[in-house]
Amino acid sequence: MTQSWNSGYVTDIAYIEGFYVQQSPARMALACLLGNVAAELPEPDDEACYLELGCGVGIGALVTAASNPGWQVTAIDYNPAHIAIGAGLARAARLDNIRFMEADLAQLATSRQADAIPQADFVSMHGLWSWVSNDVRAGIVRLLASKTRAGGLVHLSYNALPAWQGALGMQRLIYEAGVRTIGRSDVQAQAGLAVARDLKGVESRYLTESSITRDLLDTTVAMSTEYLPHEYMSAHWAPAFHADVAAALAEAKLDWVSSINPMENFPELMLTPEQRDIMNRYKDPILRELIKDMCLPRQLRHDLFVRGARRLYNDQRDAALSRLTVVPIVSPGELQTEIHVPAGMAEVGDKLQNMMAAAVRGPATVGELLALGGGRNPAELVGVLVGSHQCQIAVRSDGDQPESANRLNRVFGSRVNSIVAGKTPGALASSRLGTGLTAPPLLQFIAARLLSGERESSADAWIKALSADVVPEKHDTVRHVVHTAIEQRLPILRRLGIVPD
Ligand SMILES: C[S@@+](CC[C@H](N)C(=O)[O-])C[C@H]1O[C@@H](n2cnc3c(N)ncnc32)[C@H](O)[C@@H]1O
Repeated sequence: MTQSWNSGYVTDIAYIEGFYVQQSPARMALACLLGNVAAELPEPDDEACYLELGCGVGIGALVTAASNPGWQVTAIDYNPAHIAIGAGLARAARLDNIRFMEADLAQLATSRQADAIPQADFVSMHGLWSWVSNDVRAGIVRLLASKTRAGGLVHLSYNALPAWQGALGMQRLIYEAGVRTIGRSDVQAQAGLAVARDLKGVESRYLTESSITRDLLDTTVAMSTEYLPHEYMSAHWAPAFHADVAAALAEAKLDWVSSINPMENFPELMLTPEQRDIMNRYKDPILRELIKDMCLPRQLRHDLFVRGARRLYNDQRDAALSRLTVVPIVSPGELQTEIHVPAGMAEVGDKLQNMMAAAVRGPATVGELLALGGGRNPAELVGVLVGSHQCQIAVRSDGDQPESANRLNRVFGSRVNSIVAGKTPGALASSRLGTGLTAPPLLQFIAARLLSGERESSADAWIKALSADVVPEKHDTVRHVVHTAIEQRLPILRRLGIVPD
């Protein structure tokens, strides 16, 4: 449905709630260091500013504010429904260090509203760039130029080329068939997808010859009603080459540094030896990235930019990485030393295995782990631990949660009233992580109950509450899932200080 203010983006159905760890300050700082550029990681009580553009309902911004009571967080979106939901959650959790601002990014930089936005140490934009018009992108660059402080870090995710090239026709077909359908944009997206699936069924050349369209059309069946129109029904949907994004952000004096997904920065994990030989003919980082993107199935890029790169020599970088603390987010029994990477399955060597085993019993600094295992490569160790989702960077290794984090976690959990609730990963705020821990609704529910003074001995009551809309034959499954979460996930929440011991 067209609305005069939407500039071709979907506004008649709110976007899904989601938490994406790539938006966290610690992940941005890690990426910066991995790219041989200095980065500071302020503590939760320090003064720092975090800015999110196109925040949706703002789960990442809320979690950042609640985990870091000393910071000022600004979350901007032009959809009043998103702002109302995010501001409502902030009010419910009584967060006084987050401001939700309703503004159109096309004009914001030159409007009076911009005066209220402080210069940011960290800026994040997830799922915005490749879905908005050139005017909005230009407005974003103007805002970044004036609101990123010198030395500030910027995270930008976008649909990447050439990985999406085989699906350009598919999106256009979904969009054109969709806009000719009467109804809300979720109805339009479904109508467009139906035509695309029908055409694929009769061997449409461009819906069958690339693996991306073959797989996408199947997976969209299970995707949420709220997600699909935002992905496919934007009039300006345009996947981008990394080189073009880097050139656009250079206008705001932003330098591309690295990928926020740590392992993507290690060519030996991403490319075959023959592909690496060709990439290694070149030193230019933009050309090297294009060569990587020509070889990898990387549809969504998470890039890290810095405003003013303070380059580090390798020994300075290694020293800074060695000082980082890693904290496990899996239990010791879940340690994985065989890791799935685009170049295949990477079985890490014995030394690295020993250090990883020590890390999942952590917290520990990267330097301490290296000393234990006789290793010499902090970048590889921290890259594999964080990139394989077995550890996160801790901004501090102990200390109580601030009440703001407890309040937000109680608000998140109080909204879960069924085991079948929620489709996208939510989060629990953790001051030790300075961000959130990805958490399904069940874990949010359990954390909120524990934060309200209940103990695990209440598990039977929890199972009853969570099973209200579950058929009786499935109650045993609910019981099993709840007990597994208590046994396996609760120790991790305790180690992170999210719930009391
Ligand atoms: C795909 S959603 C991503 C939301 C959020 N970052 C997330 O990942 O959950 C894109 C967001 O950009 C917002 N947006 C689109 N055009 C905008 C504009 N011109 N000004 C401000 N926000 C805009 C939309 O309202 C939407 O919330």
